[in-house]
Amino acid sequence: MPKPYTLYNDDCFKVLSDLPEESFDMIFADPPYMLSTGTSCFNGKLIKINKGKWDKSNGIERDFEFHKQWLTLCKRLLKPNGTIWVSGTYHSILSCGYAMLLLDYHILNDIAWFKPNASPNLSCKYFTASHENLLWARKSKKAKHYFNYDAMKNGDFSKDMIKKPGLQMRTVWSIFTTPPAEKTFGKHPTQKPMALLERIITASTKEEDMILDPFMGSGTTGVAAIKLNRQFVGIDLNPEYVDLSRKRIEDAIEDKKHKKDLFD
Ligand SMILES: C[S@@+](CC[C@H](N)C(=O)[O-])C[C@H]1O[C@@H](n2cnc3c(N)ncnc32)[C@H](O)[C@@H]1O
Repeated sequence: MPKPYTLYNDDCFKVLSDLPEESFDMIFADPPYMLSTGTSCFNGKLIKINKGKWDKSNGIERDFEFHKQWLTLCKRLLKPNGTIWVSGTYHSILSCGYAMLLLDYHILNDIAWFKPNASPNLSCKYFTASHENLLWARKSKKAKHYFNYDAMKNGDFSKDMIKKPGLQMRTVWSIFTTPPAEKTFGKHPTQKPMALLERIITASTKEEDMILDPFMGSGTTGVAAIKLNRQFVGIDLNPEYVDLSRKRIEDAIEDKKHKKDLFD
């Protein structure tokens, strides 16, 4: 049986240009937030934020060009009815959102991912940052997108303090930050929680669908895709992150085989 996933250790601009057009049902992109310039609170201490060279800002205009370019390449790769999710904080999401409007993506929702366990703000001069934004858009206004309304309304979201059982899913999602149990294969500075990616994939794709993540990081999208029987293509510049993603995805495949053997 062919592998349900392909990983590339390369610059996504190159890989995105080479992949065949209209081959993905959904793209999840968690691009650099360009915020490795400030300070934050960690374990009660004020620390300098440095997630890596890839996360440094090159100025507003060059950052915007970066986002516009990868979003242009992604549009070519989406199937006509495909959708794209873009995550970010205000450091990047305004730029991504403007680029998406210019590129004629049709915005479907903006989701606020609320983190109930966000770190406090030590300076006490601002509100405590406790959410990230997710933009969900389809390729064009006239296309028809897929939305699993029933799973979002009636699924088990008992850990989400906002979602009420049996009522429509709203645009504020309460999900805890990534727990240590999801970091057993190694660490990534901006690893997304599984619960977030599982919700996104369940909401916007069907089994066997093709999912692409051009900024794969630790491979959370890939792990969620495998768990939910989707196919996955992931790209990251950093060989250590590709290695980490492969370990996590292979573990998810083994886990599925084990569960299948138990029930057969
Ligand atoms: C915000 S992180 C993604 C985290 C990921 N969602 C997770 O759950 O682990 C962004 C990732 O993009 C990668 N990256 C940055 N620029 C890139 C580029 N031009 N091509 C491919 N990967 C890139 C970085 O190495 C980093 O791992």
